[in-house]
Amino acid sequence: MTTLSRAQDPLKFAYWVPNVSGGLVTSTIEQRTDWSYDFNVKVAQLAEQVGFEYALSQVRYTASYGADQQHESTSFSLGLLTQTEKLKVIAAVHPGLWHPAVLAKFIITADHISNGRAAVNVVSGWFKDEFTGLGEPWLEHDERYRRSEEFIRVLRGLWESNGKGEGFEHRGDFYRIHDFTLQPGPVDVPGRPHPEIFQGGNSTAARRNGGTVADWYFSNGKDFDGFTEQYLEVNQNAALAGREGQVRFGLNGFVVARDSEDEAHSVLEEIIAKANPEAVEGFRQAVQQAGSSTGDGKGMWSDSTTRDLVQYNDGFRTGLIGTPEQIATRIVEFKKRGVDLFLLGFLHYLEDIAYFGEKVLPLVRELEAQAVRDGELAPTP
Ligand SMILES: Cc1cc2nc3c(=O)[nH]c(=O)nc-3n(C[C@H](O)[C@H](O)[C@H](O)COP(=O)(O)O)c2cc1C
Repeated sequence: MTTLSRAQDPLKFAYWVPNVSGGLVTSTIEQRTDWSYDFNVKVAQLAEQVGFEYALSQVRYTASYGADQQHESTSFSLGLLTQTEKLKVIAAVHPGLWHPAVLAKFIITADHISNGRAAVNVVSGWFKDEFTGLGEPWLEHDERYRRSEEFIRVLRGLWESNGKGEGFEHRGDFYRIHDFTLQPGPVDVPGRPHPEIFQGGNSTAARRNGGTVADWYFSNGKDFDGFTEQYLEVNQNAALAGREGQVRFGLNGFVVARDSEDEAHSVLEEIIAKANPEAVEGFRQAVQQAGSSTGDGKGMWSDSTTRDLVQYNDGFRTGLIGTPEQIATRIVEFKKRGVDLFLLGFLHYLEDIAYFGEKVLPLVRELEAQAVRDGELAPTP
């Protein structure tokens, strides 16, 4: 159970921005979604209106399994920020393809344009062809994470150095910055020193980075035990780094909410029955470059079944499939275990986000309030 004082804060909700083609499941089932900018503006405006606080743009530079068209994540995120009023948009970025100071500048400009709503998700990458195709070296798994750690330290260091009156210095294995002054600095948002830094990846190295340098740790789809195991390890790493209680947790889940349980489960079975086996198998092979390639074999997709991989971020495993009551109950059970934010994917973006906002979210808020009254979400004394 979470013992952090923020346990009583309302859960936050994010959705996956469909900025690459093919939808969120590798299946020929009808998905009423679209990767175009115009469609995404409608989704973003609807999502913020019904109670979503964040959106996450994916980064993909070249086609992979079912993602034949890909919009670039930082420019797409900025576009969405200009068309919304409250939504925070998180852009996924790859160390190794960005210089951290160039990204620090880009995100601060986006932060000013959006009045303090820009954020980043630092991903260490699993898709080798993306790097080799761009002529960049493909580092071994834990080296990618060592670079990501340094990347985040530079990003945060630059943002925090603003206004201190001296140039930023960094001499690392991957980046060197000399007497660099970043002006302007982040927009002044109460409780937020600079744009939030998320970390996507679940291996032992990812858990270390999550605990030592990130503001947020993103988990791939998991059941209760799978989430708790990561929660404990990341918090332990945070405590060792003197950052106890400072890391927040986001969990991925694919939502199929319908009026009846049977209807929801028959949608799931149709998704699986119409899965594209070749694409799922190709993806399985490519992601061997993730946690499976490390000494302890821990990480994203290391124990995923073929069925799990049809939603490429293991979103079925979180179990958000059923009636609004069933889904809301499960979401709040995850909250009691330490989840601060849910990152959600949908089949029919506009209809499903509207349904989630109308039917599921109010129940979540009721159950959260009940859990506080029952002392199940107690703040730290
Ligand atoms: C919520 C979340 C979002 C992610 N988004 C992306 C992405 O947009 N592009 C990408 O290449 N990888 C993405 N990743 C995967 C990361 O690249 C990750 O570092 C990689 O899969 C290796 O994971 P591992 O630490 O478990 O080995 C994401 C991971 C998570 C958990």
